[in-house]
Amino acid sequence: MGVDIRLVEQSDEDLTRWWRARSIGYLSGTQVGEQDLAYLREAMDPSRTWGAFEDGRCVATFRGFTQEVTVPGGRFLASAVVSGVTVSPTHRRRGLLTRMIEPYLRRAKESGDAMSSLIAAEYPIYGRFGYGPATWLTDFRIDTLRAARPGLPAEPDDGGRVVLADLERIGREGPELHERVRRIRHGMVTRPPTWWKRATGEYRLTESVWQEPYCALYLAQDGTVDGLVAYTGREVWKNGVPDSVLDVKDLLAATPAAERALWHYLCSVDWVTTINAPSRAPDDLLPLLVGDARAVTPTACSDHLWLRPLDVPAMLTARSYQAEGAVVLDVQDKDGLASGRFLLEAGPDGASCVPTGRTPDLTLPAAALGSLYLGDESAVRLAALGRLAEERPGAAFAADTLLRTSRRPWCPDIF
Ligand SMILES: CC(C)(COP(=O)(O)OP(=O)(O)OC[C@H]1O[C@@H](n2cnc3c(N)ncnc32)[C@H](O)[C@@H]1OP(=O)(O)O)[C@@H](O)C(=O)NCCC(=O)NCCS
Repeated sequence: MGVDIRLVEQSDEDLTRWWRARSIGYLSGTQVGEQDLAYLREAMDPSRTWGAFEDGRCVATFRGFTQEVTVPGGRFLASAVVSGVTVSPTHRRRGLLTRMIEPYLRRAKESGDAMSSLIAAEYPIYGRFGYGPATWLTDFRIDTLRAARPGLPAEPDDGGRVVLADLERIGREGPELHERVRRIRHGMVTRPPTWWKRATGEYRLTESVWQEPYCALYLAQDGTVDGLVAYTGREVWKNGVPDSVLDVKDLLAATPAAERALWHYLCSVDWVTTINAPSRAPDDLLPLLVGDARAVTPTACSDHLWLRPLDVPAMLTARSYQAEGAVVLDVQDKDGLASGRFLLEAGPDGASCVPTGRTPDLTLPAAALGSLYLGDESAVRLAALGRLAEERPGAAFAADTLLRTSRRPWCPDIF
């Protein structure tokens, strides 16, 4: 009997089968609770949520929706998300993912989406579908005793203040703050209402153990909420002295003053000797904000947001450029979605990108353009790896001058 790929119905029965299949793929349990279904109903786009069914059982899942990605310069570009991808162990490597993602990308292209985005559970899965890693994350561990040397101010000295906040206030103030922060940091993505409902415990899914976080806000001198932190704590004692640990869940700052004040606040919580701060930008200010930068150790570094170009001119004209210049890109795409030769003429005041018959400067696969797009990857590096070809000496260096950004892109969210 064949495997039938179809849209998931809104009935409890279909949603339960879909969620259970997803949990089997993610090894996150087989229980499906009422909260899971309520969350799924709110989060899913019924016109873009598919399941693969065989003998009445769901054996593969796939969820699409639209998110905005902040591109260099601060504009938001709509992107077709790939999420909730699983294939049950009984059906792996039979082409089910391919059968779901290829038509999805074709439809996204037809409906005018400039690109597609996802977070890859494993590095080797999505390159073949034209995606390249575009942002990276660093996990930091802070030794707070060392961080405090030669002495951190316990309170902001800029007229602002840090106040504790309950989850109700975070649910109210957080989304607006996030909107401000994502305008100034490329790589960030939309946080839908369901993201905040999970963060504040309104939805408690069976796949994760809920622990209510402590939360604090940074208020600027005029009372504006410029920063937010959510963290959990673990009480630990060693040889009669406190050795407790904080785990940062979220830290957003709209200004450097807020960022400084919130890290100083965390580093001065009594009893705490270790802070785990995962999912920060690789160029986070944190190490240089504390008294001794060596108190902040990177413990992990991993690729995070992957991009797949669909409309090259739309992507390249949406972002800004720090330098003036021109480059001819020959984009090669085995699926034909982003192929073409394009002349990009760009500068701080804007860019044009049009099809051209000129000799290319660089020939590159769509996945390489996905990696270069937010300014994090280097064309010189990709040339050295043989992942793009320089058709003219120095073309990769010239492309980097145009495309790279002074701050690295950052996307802390899982979606
Ligand atoms: C990753 C996953 C969805 C792949 O589904 P699938 O139906 O087995 O994939 P396909 O059969 O369409 O594979 C297409 C190609 O990708 C390769 N591929 C698929 N998953 C891969 C992986 N994890 N690592 C390396 N290659 C992989 C296949 O070998 C195949 O290559 P081929 O065309 O050269 O033979 C599935 O293994 C799974 O559910 N894993 C656990 C959950 C997970 O990681 N989900 C992804 C979340 S982002």
